[in-house]
Amino acid sequence: MATDTSDSLITTDVSSTETGRGKVPDETVVASSNLDVYYGTDQALEDVSIEIPEHKVTAIIGPSGCGKSTFLRCINRMNDQIPACTVDGELRFHSTDVYDEAVDPVALRRKIGMVFQKPNPFPKSIYDNVAYGLRVQGKAVTDEIVEEALRGAALWDEVSDQLEESGLELSGGQQQRLCIARAIAPDPEVILMDEPASALDPVATSKIEDLIADLADEYTVVIVTHNMQQAARISDKTAVFLTGGRLVEFDDTQKVFENPQHQRVEDYITGKFG
Ligand SMILES: Nc1ncnc2c1ncn2[C@@H]1O[C@H](COP(=O)(O)OP(=O)(O)O)[C@@H](O)[C@H]1O
Ligand SMILES: [Mg+2]
Repeated sequence: MATDTSDSLITTDVSSTETGRGKVPDETVVASSNLDVYYGTDQALEDVSIEIPEHKVTAIIGPSGCGKSTFLRCINRMNDQIPACTVDGELRFHSTDVYDEAVDPVALRRKIGMVFQKPNPFPKSIYDNVAYGLRVQGKAVTDEIVEEALRGAALWDEVSDQLEESGLELSGGQQQRLCIARAIAPDPEVILMDEPASALDPVATSKIEDLIADLADEYTVVIVTHNMQQAARISDKTAVFLTGGRLVEFDDTQKVFENPQHQRVEDYITGKFG
């Protein structure tokens, strides 16, 4: 009876515990097929099929309202918190059907963390912000884990002597890196970022961009950005969503920006609309 499900997404017994940890190039970590998402009767995503590769940075770009945030929130079931939102089709994290009713969304979000547009540290100490995710999961908090997460978020050198001070005292860019430290502390596989630098000044933005490149060594990063130069600079793969919530093009970033396959994508990238 004593099954250890602490590391499992499924709260009921499953036979397979495959995790696909290998470093095979372009192993898919998250895949949607024919995904449709509605808010009430309004369709926000239509027939989205995509395979997101492990240990790469995948950028999601497209005009406002085309469903970028909606798609991101589908991946770790943040849309569960929006009662009007319904999801059809399939979304897999490795071999797990994310929308299987046996999946525990809290456990899922430990594996698939999220960083938002506006830095949202808690009104707690820097240390407790980083420890938060571990405590929620009932995991042990150690100074080493907190330090490692802060180093991973390129923040340790700036805050190591003020860990007991409030996270709210930090600058905007530091707060966002604190949120990244909070997201990586529970050792997720995937980090979702929804316009993580759009509220920051250029220097803070550039720090976040450098950090994202480093994060991809250990994690799979999926980043929504409305900044096409940013997508071109930091991502390996680019997904272009256009009006109607459709994924129009998904390919290597260089190819999307230099030789897009769809006229509408070219028009968007060259600034003809959006
Ligand atoms: N919580 C919500 N309730 C109802 N409609 C929503 C909600 N969130 C987003 N939408 C609608 O879904 C569509 C896609 O929105 P969103 O995913 O936020 O796009 P993007 O991030 O690309 O700007 C838009 O038409 C938006 O108005
Ligand atoms: Mg959005």
